[in-house]
Amino acid sequence: MPTVTYIQPDGTAHRVDVPVGVSLMKAAVSNDVAGIVGECGGSAVCATCHVYVENTTSPLGEPSGDEDEMLDWTATPRQTNSRLSCQVVPLVADCELTVRVPEAQV
Ligand code: FES
Repeated sequence: MPTVTYIQPDGTAHRVDVPVGVSLMKAAVSNDVAGIVGECGGSAVCATCHVYVENTTSPLGEPSGDEDEMLDWTATPRQTNSRLSCQVVPLVADCELTVRVPEAQV
């Protein structure tokens, strides 16, 4: 099962096993990971699930046009590794990801 480590702004790490096909946003919300809001439920229209992807063992693909557009509306500055966690879905069972949670989502 894919494993995702969410790093909080204070450095606290929260490691979660994420079933293949489940988004990083849904996995965070259902595992009480702080700082991932997911206000729109995963429709890529709120940008409250912003994360910075620090490391991945499996390519994630490029953001879609809609995701790319919403990444311009994040509460903390967009960086080259910014993604909407609702659009990041591990598809490989042995994938390991590390993402950094931003200081704010709204
Ligand atoms: S949950 Fe709204 S953009 Fe990701």
